[in-house]
Amino acid sequence: MNINWNSIRKEFPLLKEKYPVFGRGDFHGESIAYLDNAASTPMPLFLQKKFCEIFNKYYSNVHRGAHYFSIISTVKYEEARKIAMDFIGGDKKTHEIIFAYNTTDALNLAAHLIKNKKGIVLASEMEHHSNYLPYLRDNVVELFCVDEFGNIDYADLEKKLKKYDVKLVAVSGVSNVTGILSDIGLMAKLAHKYGAKILIDGAQALAHMPLDVKKYGIDFFAGAGHKMYAPGVAFLYAPRAILDEAESYRPGGGTINYVLPDEVNYSLSPERHEGGTPNIAGAIVLGEAMKWLKKIGMKNIRKHEMELFEYLVGELKKIPQVKIYPIRSNPAVRDADMSLVNRTSNGVYGDLNFEWHLGLVSFNIENIHHSLAVAILNYEAGAAIRNGCHCAHIYLKQLLKLNKKDIEKIKKILAKKQKGITETENLIIPGTLRASLGIFNNKKDVDKLIRGVKMIAEKKWKRDYIYENGAYKLRIK
Ligand SMILES: Cc1ncc(COP(=O)(O)O)c(C=O)c1O
Repeated sequence: MNINWNSIRKEFPLLKEKYPVFGRGDFHGESIAYLDNAASTPMPLFLQKKFCEIFNKYYSNVHRGAHYFSIISTVKYEEARKIAMDFIGGDKKTHEIIFAYNTTDALNLAAHLIKNKKGIVLASEMEHHSNYLPYLRDNVVELFCVDEFGNIDYADLEKKLKKYDVKLVAVSGVSNVTGILSDIGLMAKLAHKYGAKILIDGAQALAHMPLDVKKYGIDFFAGAGHKMYAPGVAFLYAPRAILDEAESYRPGGGTINYVLPDEVNYSLSPERHEGGTPNIAGAIVLGEAMKWLKKIGMKNIRKHEMELFEYLVGELKKIPQVKIYPIRSNPAVRDADMSLVNRTSNGVYGDLNFEWHLGLVSFNIENIHHSLAVAILNYEAGAAIRNGCHCAHIYLKQLLKLNKKDIEKIKKILAKKQKGITETENLIIPGTLRASLGIFNNKKDVDKLIRGVKMIAEKKWKRDYIYENGAYKLRIK
């Protein structure tokens, strides 16, 4: 299939908008190279039109009306549920898709579902806070390690599965900090061998690679529309038996069969856990986004993004002042044959193994704070990337090799910040720069970023930046 990536790019109006970028002696209007897809993806015009069409043609509340608008809304909303099930390769006989508000909400639902089960939760040190903090509320949680290359330490996972009575292994399919893929198939086998269930936080994987959760025996899977070109809506894929046995996650309208003064009879899933009016239009557009991506082909998307990633990393590596955080895969992982990943033919670049990577990279520029770098990239290079700790403090602590003393210092800084003392540069905390690719990115976007990174590495930026409220900002004269 010959895919016209240029025409796909043209579907994104946001990429044509001009913003002031400093260069050639003054600010001029320039389009922005958007490389922050791991945070949220922009929405293509045809999906924006679909969104409007819903409101123009039939938008109404679902499940509760006998009029045309409600009937159509319900049909489309339920269709979206089926599309999501199909998109991730779910087992519809045994599992259900529950719509949620964002990935965090979906993961909180998962934590709720297993809270009364016997045993502990094992989460990896790689996790986004959204796949760690929800379990802490009502469960005992232990962490399993990542190795020096930022990969899951599968031996440590097995050791802890043996040591504890584990009910759930909660782990990211793809790290939102390094883009490293975990061997989901291997972890599912390990979890099941020791009687545990496995949950995959698929926030980063969903829009960028083929998925087949049934094939790999994944019990729970969470993903969100705002990371796959759709509006903010999310879902949890979960075993029906567990869903129907747990208390309603969000008790309220739409969750019951009947209510009497002395008795409440709850519906089965999915309604049981979707109290109140859901994000109807969001879910319908999520379904449309999935149909679109499927038509392009997830293998094609992965190949396209990884080719660009190879170029991005290759260019970053040419800048001596750039330190890239680990994107090297552990050889044991490389040899495993049970991955959820459909391997690409990109092969290995130097010490990189792209088979176990997604188009996302974390790096720093020598002696330049990430907050300053990201501001210069925005105002003087027209490149939009992210900086900070990416909601993964435990992983960042490992990657940045922070010791106890560093942590104590950061804790003091944060305590000061909480008291409103933020004016000095001493308050700056460590982190990384993160560039993440999407379906519409091209070499020109990467070139823009690389020009900016070189300019910063050579200390050739032109404007002044001031440190204010925890971040660098452009000084307006
Ligand atoms: C791996 C991972 N999990 C969870 C989340 C939280 O997603 P949301 O903002 O949809 O709650 C993110 C967001 O970046 C993420 O990258």
